[in-house]
Amino acid sequence: MNTTSKKLEGKVAIITGAARGQGADEARRFVAEGARVVLTDLLPSGADLAAELGSAAIFIQHDVANEAQWRSVVDTALEKFGRIDILVNNAGIFTPAMLEDTTAESFDRHYRVNQYGPFLGMKAVLAPMKAAGGGSIVNISSVAGMRGFPGMIAYAGSKWALRGMTKCVAREVAPFKIRVNSIHPGLVDTPMLNDHDPEALKQFEAAVPLGRMATTADIVEIVVYLAGDLSSNMTGAELVTDGGLGL
Ligand SMILES: NC(=O)c1ccc[n+]([C@@H]2O[C@H](COP(=O)([O-])OP(=O)(O)OC[C@H]3O[C@@H](n4cnc5c(N)ncnc54)[C@H](O)[C@@H]3O)[C@@H](O)[C@H]2O)c1
Repeated sequence: MNTTSKKLEGKVAIITGAARGQGADEARRFVAEGARVVLTDLLPSGADLAAELGSAAIFIQHDVANEAQWRSVVDTALEKFGRIDILVNNAGIFTPAMLEDTTAESFDRHYRVNQYGPFLGMKAVLAPMKAAGGGSIVNISSVAGMRGFPGMIAYAGSKWALRGMTKCVAREVAPFKIRVNSIHPGLVDTPMLNDHDPEALKQFEAAVPLGRMATTADIVEIVVYLAGDLSSNMTGAELVTDGGLGL
């Protein structure tokens, strides 16, 4: 059990989608909590953030839907930091469309990034986490993985799947002291929402019982909790942080 005041002291984490939004703030906070972090993203700007975070962080440009690239992320993490304790499957995409407007390409892309990517990630870190004597995998799903929303068939399908995969893997890997949990944010103020119709977003926000979008800080707090030893008895859990949107 960690006895320092830092919640992730000595741990090594991989965070996907860490160039911006929630993943970037998770990386900043993880380093502040004593972790060493491998940031990955399709966007090369993740390198600037890693440089800002200093010797406790490295960046690898990475498509989460590419299995060979996952092998190289894990190999580099082990070479650089010697172990892997935490994986945050945070990278994701969201392009809203009603069923009749959802193309096969868009459906497949949501599947590949939001579901297949975390599958590859969980598989890739399994051996190093077993070797480390345990670990924590945090899968960023969504409130759209808890209930139905119009215009979200591709996105919600992938996030329901991620929630289900979390529970299957949690049961499989518990004997190795590897924990797997999912987080289900509602609306979070990040660049993901930039391309969306501001009027529709306003209406969505107005439907949140607590009356506001989440900040990245709201989500990061829970990621740190699940990643660290304070949640050592939790696996297969789904933590909803949506201001009541999914009620
Ligand atoms: N913003 C919200 O309202 C909201 C709500 C619920 C859940 N989420 C989930 O939270 C997670 C983080 O999203 P965010 O809000 O920070 O959005 P964001 O768009 O700011 O960040 C997502 C990051 O993922 C990266 N990414 C996309 N495809 C990738 C790929 N194939 N390989 C590697 N990286 C890739 C992007 O480049 C980006 O940096 C996502 O899984 C998202 O679905 C977001």
